[in-house]
Amino acid sequence: MVNPDGYPDYCLRCIECGKEYDIEDIYLCKCGGLLEVYIRGADISFKLDGNLEGVWKYGSLLPVKTNPVTLKEGSTPLYRCRRIEEMLKNAGVNVSVYVKHEGANPSGSFKDRGMTVGVTKAIELGKKAVACASTGNTSASMAMYAAKAGIRAYVLLPAGKVALGKVAQALMHGARVIGIKGNFDQALAIVREICSSEGFYLLNSVNPFRLEGQKTIAFEVVDEIGVPDRVILPVGNAGNISAIYKGFKELERFGLTESIPKMCGIQAEGANPVYRAVKSKKEDIEPVLNPETIATAIRIGQPVNARKAIRAIYESNGVAEQVSDEEIIEAQKLLASKEGIGVEPASAASVAGLFKLAGKGVIENGERIVCITTGHLLKDPETVINICGKPVEVEASVEAVRSAL
Ligand SMILES: Cc1ncc(COP(=O)(O)O)c(C=O)c1O
Ligand SMILES: [Zn+2]
Repeated sequence: MVNPDGYPDYCLRCIECGKEYDIEDIYLCKCGGLLEVYIRGADISFKLDGNLEGVWKYGSLLPVKTNPVTLKEGSTPLYRCRRIEEMLKNAGVNVSVYVKHEGANPSGSFKDRGMTVGVTKAIELGKKAVACASTGNTSASMAMYAAKAGIRAYVLLPAGKVALGKVAQALMHGARVIGIKGNFDQALAIVREICSSEGFYLLNSVNPFRLEGQKTIAFEVVDEIGVPDRVILPVGNAGNISAIYKGFKELERFGLTESIPKMCGIQAEGANPVYRAVKSKKEDIEPVLNPETIATAIRIGQPVNARKAIRAIYESNGVAEQVSDEEIIEAQKLLASKEGIGVEPASAASVAGLFKLAGKGVIENGERIVCITTGHLLKDPETVINICGKPVEVEASVEAVRSAL
């Protein structure tokens, strides 16, 4: 069987020197530049008709030729957030706000969109094992899809710095989980070497096929509401912002849309290399050596996709912003208690960023804005208990409960 919607004519292309490759089992150009999948041509068989059917609805723009390894990822809800709109209106900013909740994917994060394509590519290339470094969600998702595909999964994590729910997922789905006494950036450097010596397929976002799955976030947004004016999302290793931008660009290139939203990347103050680079109008980052933030998913000091992400921001007339841990927690609480959307801390950075940008006068009245919330509340229960405290305990009697109401 094959990709049910057919597949496009594509190659891998270097974002630095433009060299094209028809081989697929590589992650970087000979010049050291990042690769992206370049779709040369496609017979687009889907319609942007508001009917979401998951990632593989867009199979005619996805570069795999085999039967997909799928857990029915995608089709995530896009919520209109009237209470947040009201708050912004009271501050003088009149906009429409939507939240696309990627926490509703099978493993609870947007990574599933990438993994359905990445693990399918691993099978297509005949790989027997996949591997990644992870701040948690990548490992949970990769382990899940590797289980579905029936191949081995190896995971490197920064020991003690990964939210509990994510480790639990990777373990239960059967991955070999190894904690290193170091940070994510070090874990990634190690796993890259291990993959090349052991022949494992690397499924970090330096893998261009994984990002192809993630571009379907853009497709779904357009499917439901057309092209928004602005997309705001958290940035860690900077793959997702690059992927979503690519999705919008492709729709425009194939004549399905006529504009591109401003791509706005939000980082935590303690892990902000992309923010710093954009602020000083540079094309590349200077690494943050000891990244720190409560939002462990984006605790990354040396994002591999920084050059792609920074281009996405410049080319779309977007911005980069930073938010404090306090602002992240406030936004997490707001989403959960006023909109009914339960997200993990990193995801809340998008909404914290929205308020920050509104406060700075960056956002114009009338804009339609989509914030991407990348992971589910249950990923990080420990942080939640630290923020909210434990439930009160009382005697098992009606009077005791009544007095505790
Ligand atoms: C919940 C969550 N949000 C945001 C990110 C950052 O995404 P990216 O690394 O593609 O920038 C991650 C990455 O692990 C994540 O798990
Ligand atoms: Zn090159």
